[in-house]
Amino acid sequence: MRIAVAKEVFPGETRVALTPDVIKKLIGLGADVAIESGAGLTAGVTDAAYSEAGAKVAGSRADALNGADVLLTVRRPAPDALQGLKPGALVIGVMDPYGKAAEIEALAKTGVTAFAMELMPRITRAQVMDVLSSQANLAGYRAVIDAAAEYGRALPMMMTAAGTVPAARAFVMGAGVAGLQAIATARRLGAVVTATDVRPAAKEQVESLGAKFIAVEDEEFKQAETAAGYAKAMSAEYQAKQAELTASHIAKQDIVITTALIPGRPAPRLVTTAMVKSMKPGSVVIDLAVERGGNVEGAKPDEVVDVDGVKIVGYVNWAGRLAASTSALYAKNLSAFLETLFDKETKQLAVKWDDELVKATALTRDGAVIHPVAKSPDAPKPAAPSPDADTPSDTPPPQEAS
Ligand code: NAI
Repeated sequence: MRIAVAKEVFPGETRVALTPDVIKKLIGLGADVAIESGAGLTAGVTDAAYSEAGAKVAGSRADALNGADVLLTVRRPAPDALQGLKPGALVIGVMDPYGKAAEIEALAKTGVTAFAMELMPRITRAQVMDVLSSQANLAGYRAVIDAAAEYGRALPMMMTAAGTVPAARAFVMGAGVAGLQAIATARRLGAVVTATDVRPAAKEQVESLGAKFIAVEDEEFKQAETAAGYAKAMSAEYQAKQAELTASHIAKQDIVITTALIPGRPAPRLVTTAMVKSMKPGSVVIDLAVERGGNVEGAKPDEVVDVDGVKIVGYVNWAGRLAASTSALYAKNLSAFLETLFDKETKQLAVKWDDELVKATALTRDGAVIHPVAKSPDAPKPAAPSPDADTPSDTPPPQEAS
């Protein structure tokens, strides 16, 4: 089995799909690994480190892919970037399939078998393959580090001879993997932390991290978690109540970090321009959901926007801002999944098409799109603004990057 990794071509992508530790393991299983020269540099991995781990460093993308059975990737590659792979080769990575029917169809036509790692079921067996968690965890940490860097004051309370610096107040909206890590990190840095979510299960998790939970806990809230553990899109009535509750709270915050997502849909709009303007100058709003349309009105992809002295930070690729750490975890996620597609005795690929992990993640096979999420031609619709927004939204939500 020949595995290939090439430089990521998606603008601003700094991560790499395989790191040396994982390569050693794959070679130990009987695989050959070819890496395009320079593919790891933005994640702190040199060609020499790849060579030492036993990978062949190829001079070009074409050389790396030539004759490969598997291409491991961070982002979905363009169809014309797959030349050289064996017919029917596996392409495994984050495929961003929602509302991208034409793109996935084009991928299918190349004849590759594509797997979308973000569709991995969140079951115990697949925890080690959960790219959403491994990347979101570090993104949540980085959000706080970036907030601290943009904030012109200290986070912890400091009592000094020259006076007392008050602790910063941080509010985390969305307490999933990224949000919980943001809460833990902000607490470690000494901030006074509150958090909200629409899933009841989040309340205990937030409180167990020492933060205060704030939410509209009505009947809809009690039903807001899907069987898969994700949030549902909430009704306009709920959004209005939520906005009313959070508006007065946000006005007292120094740092707001938003992480709210709903799989396959645009991110819910949680923070309006009026809410941003209610914060003190010098405050910071961090929007982790910009790539999926944004939780914060006025957030712009890869920009720090100043609204009356409040900074809205909208980096697109938070996980890519600590590419060495996220790549190492991502590579482990990929190799754990790849092992399930590999026969250790024959040392050949042996995809078990009836395995629930394969059924959940396979997008294309034998020239056709086989996954329902990749068949819908509808792009996600723009998020509805919060009904109580008293400032008209003149900025369209940032577009989802593709
Ligand atoms: P996500 O990235 O899809 O969303 C982030 C958070 O935003 C979620 O907590 C969601 O409830 C929240 N959210 C959505 N709409 C909102 C709104 N209008 N207002 C406020 N918050 C809103 O979620 P993530 O981080 O992927 O986690 C989803 C669930 O999966 C969590 O319950 C998590 O604990 C669980 N999980 C389970 C794993 C397992 O292996 N069993 C592994 C990782 C996560």
